[in-house]
Amino acid sequence: MDLKVAIIGCGAIGREIALSIDAKKIPNCKLSILFDIDSLKLESLYKNLHTKPSSIFDDFDELVASNDYHNVNLVIEAASVKAAQTYMAAILKQGKDIMIMSIGAFSDPAFYENIIQVLTDNDNNVFLPSGAIGGADIIRSVKNYIEEVTIVTTKSNKSLKGAPYFYNNDIDIDVIKEKKVIFDGNAINAIKEFPSNVNISALVSLAGIGFEKTRVKIVVDPKIINNQHEIQVKWKFGSFQINVDNIPSPDNPKTSYLAILSAIECLRGICAKNLKIGS
Ligand SMILES: NC(=O)c1ccc[n+]([C@@H]2O[C@H](COP(=O)([O-])OP(=O)(O)OC[C@H]3O[C@@H](n4cnc5c(N)ncnc54)[C@H](O)[C@@H]3O)[C@@H](O)[C@H]2O)c1
Repeated sequence: MDLKVAIIGCGAIGREIALSIDAKKIPNCKLSILFDIDSLKLESLYKNLHTKPSSIFDDFDELVASNDYHNVNLVIEAASVKAAQTYMAAILKQGKDIMIMSIGAFSDPAFYENIIQVLTDNDNNVFLPSGAIGGADIIRSVKNYIEEVTIVTTKSNKSLKGAPYFYNNDIDIDVIKEKKVIFDGNAINAIKEFPSNVNISALVSLAGIGFEKTRVKIVVDPKIINNQHEIQVKWKFGSFQINVDNIPSPDNPKTSYLAILSAIECLRGICAKNLKIGS
């Protein structure tokens, strides 16, 4: 039987996931519900689907009260850190599995502990795709031996524009003309200041040694087009670096195209009945 899916957020990531399901690229998967607070995004995606989902919503309470929602097995969040924090516990308590893209949500310790408690009390799963990096498996494997983890994220002015950091520090990103480290701190503060840019630091923190001990450097480089991430890990029996150089999504320069493919592959893995590769 097909897994019935609801997608929260019809932007760069949610849209491509929906189109992949529609194009039958994900076996055993049916798109049941789309939800976005922006009705224009919602309707534009809906119009582009050949097989229409059973319902679309621009209000969470209406979504949850609907008959179609009762049959949903998996909810995919591709909206924002705030949306993940607002909806996640309720969705889990309603017995649904959930895939989270706004992994930065977990940097709030109270939220993280609450979700762990909800998962302990309920029999369901939270899936966190690797997103804009790879290597979560190797970080998980060595986590008890890690001495230092640093993530260096380099993005263009356009990719970083709009982050709270610039408003909080009264900085106009457009006047930065040379490559410059603009943030050096732990993953908790990195996510507070750049919630739409450093979800990978949340994934690395969860896979490794936690948000407080994970160091994040954010570099603005007016000359680059791609989003670059370098993860440097020193551990008891060696060291490794993971480098990714990602083309941004045409729909959202903050989001790497790799993150979209990672979400689609994670969904394919959840729906797959047999071979699980590299999980
Ligand atoms: N895990 C990763 O590696 C990774 C990589 C890139 C982006 N992300 C995160 O995934 C999320 C989605 O990214 P995107 O590029 O698709 O963003 P986007 O801005 O293109 O789309 C987000 C959509 O969600 C909708 N939305 C916002 N708040 C909502 C709410 N409360 N309820 C319902 N809908 C809401 C918006 O209207 C928008 O259509 C972001 O939080 C982003 O930071 C994660």
